[in-house]
Amino acid sequence: MAHAELDRLQACLNFALDTFRKELDNSHLPPLSQHSPVEHPLDDPTTYLPSTALFEARRLSLACLGELKNLIQSPLDRRMEDRYSGYGVASTDTLIKTGIIDYLSGVPNPSQGVPVTELALKFELDSQKLVPILRCCAANGWVRETSDSSFALNRCARTFIEGHAGRRMAFSMPGFMSMIETIPHWVAESDWKFSHSPEQTAFQIAFKTPLMAFSWIVKNPEVLIPIANHLQVAGDMSTPTIVADYPWEQLETPVIVDCGGGEGGLVSAILDAHPSFRAIVQDMENVVALTSSIMEERRPRDIESGVLNVEAHNLFQPQQRIGNEYSFILRHIMHDWPDKEAATILGHVARALGPKSKILLIDMVNIPNVDATATPSVESFLMHSDAKRRDYSIPSHFGSASKLVAAYSMHMLSMMNGCERSLREWETLVGGCGLRITNVYPLRDHSAIIECELDTGMKGKL
Ligand SMILES: C[S@@+](CC[C@H](N)C(=O)[O-])C[C@H]1O[C@@H](n2cnc3c(N)ncnc32)[C@H](O)[C@@H]1O
Repeated sequence: MAHAELDRLQACLNFALDTFRKELDNSHLPPLSQHSPVEHPLDDPTTYLPSTALFEARRLSLACLGELKNLIQSPLDRRMEDRYSGYGVASTDTLIKTGIIDYLSGVPNPSQGVPVTELALKFELDSQKLVPILRCCAANGWVRETSDSSFALNRCARTFIEGHAGRRMAFSMPGFMSMIETIPHWVAESDWKFSHSPEQTAFQIAFKTPLMAFSWIVKNPEVLIPIANHLQVAGDMSTPTIVADYPWEQLETPVIVDCGGGEGGLVSAILDAHPSFRAIVQDMENVVALTSSIMEERRPRDIESGVLNVEAHNLFQPQQRIGNEYSFILRHIMHDWPDKEAATILGHVARALGPKSKILLIDMVNIPNVDATATPSVESFLMHSDAKRRDYSIPSHFGSASKLVAAYSMHMLSMMNGCERSLREWETLVGGCGLRITNVYPLRDHSAIIECELDTGMKGKL
């Protein structure tokens, strides 16, 4: 019997996996293994940039796997899995907090597995609690149970070892889960259900504060550094593709200003690749104190010579760097803010532009996940394949493979009434600030570079 959807997804998955395997070989990468005691280059996007074909084959494989899971799994099982997904996060957090991750990575034979009794003794913990926690991690693919109640790290969990990227991201803000639980109340029945203010969100309800999320964070120093670290890794994940996939040499302005540039990782990478530029990192006062000390340590010569400046600047104040000397980057800034505030921020930058200046908005483009059998991105990926005429049933934004974009959008919504914008929403926002989009550069990441310049047809209307 023909099973149309199952058959199409299976064919698509086979095609995607065959391509993925071929591209791994073309890139001279080792085989992927969950048993390996070392990380695979593909595990860390902050240090390894896959070829475009490898990136696309991986994304399509994940999309097919997700769509197949949605097709096959019982909805009740999926509902239960969703409901209990927080336990997966709590389990890995526990392994990090107790020191078990670092211990498992440091044993003489990390693939062999350590009995839970040894872990309990070493860390003065209750083995009855450790077994379900470690089994939950195993079910989520972070550890392996090598024999009954003995556990070894999987390759992927190595990202949680001290000094690795996932460890810097592995903080959890107390109250974060209650903010998530507050969302249905906030949206359906609170006094703020129609409010678009960043001061009237699930965040204020859950954290019992009148402060906007960013103001609350800077007033709570115990979370400022972990959050700055988290944001820096989230940014670093797109840095290699931003440096590689934008034609920096075509920028006609000698200075790049990174507005809300955080710890300055992005301009550092751009300066390394294009030393002819000068750069300025702007952020809030409390943040630039941290950024300055980081940059003085990492790039003392650039700071001394004035190639790199770090300065306090409020996004809601007029931009003081004006004219043809400057182009501006706003990475992961606009998604934080609702339309009114986003337009104020962008308007200030627009009024500082010279005719040669560009604004590079680096954020996700939230393509609606419309039911589609042949989307532009899938189509272009398939263009040179024999399989191109097949009907693939992959939604336009790769379905489950865009879960992260959807989750980010929910996070921005509940924290600040922000969102990840669709291209149409970007056009409206940009056009309303007297700008026009000159190009959209897709990245080998979940985000894109939306390049804008002054809309000369709008001269005098700003
Ligand atoms: C999501 S982070 C992005 C950081 C950085 N652009 C990156 O990509 O890594 C948002 C940044 O905006 C900064 N920010 C928030 N409100 C601001 C304001 N009113 N003026 C200046 N910076 C602000 C935060 O301190 C933070 O560094």
